[in-house]
Amino acid sequence: MNTPSRGPQHNEGADTCQGKPCPPNLARRVKRHAWAPAWNWFAVCAPGLEGPLFQEMRALGLEPLPAEPDGGGVGFRGKLEAGYLANLWLRCCARVLLRLADFRVRTWDDLVRQARAIPWEVFLPAGAPLRVKVSLKGSNLKHSGRVAEEVLAAAAASLGKIGLAPPGLAASQEPAQAIMVRGVDRRCQISLDASGEHLHKRGYRLAAGKAPLREDLAAALLALAGYDGSQPFLDPMCGAGTLAIEAALLARGLPALGEERDLAMLAWPCHREPTWRHLREKALAQALAAAPQPILARDAQTSAIKAATANAQRAGVAADLAIAKADFFQTPPPAGPPGLLAMNPPYGKRLGSVRQAGEFAQRLGAHLASHYPGWRVAVMLYLPQWLEVLGLRDARTLAAPFGGLKVTLAVGKVKG
Ligand SMILES: C[S@@+](CC[C@H](N)C(=O)[O-])C[C@H]1O[C@@H](n2cnc3c(N)ncnc32)[C@H](O)[C@@H]1O
Repeated sequence: MNTPSRGPQHNEGADTCQGKPCPPNLARRVKRHAWAPAWNWFAVCAPGLEGPLFQEMRALGLEPLPAEPDGGGVGFRGKLEAGYLANLWLRCCARVLLRLADFRVRTWDDLVRQARAIPWEVFLPAGAPLRVKVSLKGSNLKHSGRVAEEVLAAAAASLGKIGLAPPGLAASQEPAQAIMVRGVDRRCQISLDASGEHLHKRGYRLAAGKAPLREDLAAALLALAGYDGSQPFLDPMCGAGTLAIEAALLARGLPALGEERDLAMLAWPCHREPTWRHLREKALAQALAAAPQPILARDAQTSAIKAATANAQRAGVAADLAIAKADFFQTPPPAGPPGLLAMNPPYGKRLGSVRQAGEFAQRLGAHLASHYPGWRVAVMLYLPQWLEVLGLRDARTLAAPFGGLKVTLAVGKVKG
């Protein structure tokens, strides 16, 4: 889904929406229902990334809520500002949801009552295209179509009550606000997507290599390695540069979200543009002017070098990266003290077969042992047994889904 374009927003301290008078009460309702209360939010992540996401949240000063039984993300509580912060900074997060209702449900009346109690008018732009996504598992509410209809009717009634045009159902590819309804057994949650497009789309990676690593996985691998920019960094098989760019963003303390990226919550009537602008400006003001240690990105392919260079420029970290064409097996390690070598080596089909990929892993392991003693290695593996083949000591791993496969993120020391 694309991020919906911004509609008119309520202006702080005035009863106008972009110069036009607000419907009676909207200004007051925004302050009362959207700005004053703390809400529950849920940061969705790929299954397996909850640990690094939890740590990121703590570091950001957001208070994580107790773990959800099904995982799939980490909840937190806070005002609107917490939602902005999460979207701006959480690198391992897929999207941020605002939990509008979380209740026990036995009958349709329970759903209708809860959906009608939500102050939709402060979150949904009048007349905006809307999508309602319903997932039910073991719920008393058996009919997902009817769930969507009831929630849509509640939202329309809420806007209509103060003279605003109701939201309309979005066409399939149309950018839209998205309501998510999740019914598992007796529990039902109604949420609004605050992010829009998946947050791994930071906005910098327009040039993709052949098998680019998703940005949230790259960030999780760096988090597993405890990378903070204070040590030299090398990705010897950088492809489109994702790992090195994520490393540079981290090293400089720059936010995850690119400057050009839009968010669904920036179109909500309750959006506070001055607060959002302040958070963005503060983030940039606090960032380091340059990465404190070298960040090297190498690849054997000219096309990968071009893509990595273009992406690094768009991310605003080109000056922090030394990008060079080089074959890993024919190039000496960088001069200076050992650091972190992070990579997402080619695998399977690209190498012809899983057996050949295993042989490649063996070659990698031998090369690491002979040329990179003292280095730590962070690697994404398509088969967990390659960890042994690589011969890493004291390895820590994390499994996550990627491209229809379960991949292993591993961090360990080079033997020797
Ligand atoms: C799976 S891709 C890496 C994708 C990258 N992480 C990204 O996000 O775009 C593997 C990369 O390894 C590179 N590669 C393969 N063998 C290499 C070698 N011997 N030396 C350097 N690079 C190599 C390929 O050119 C390819 O770009």
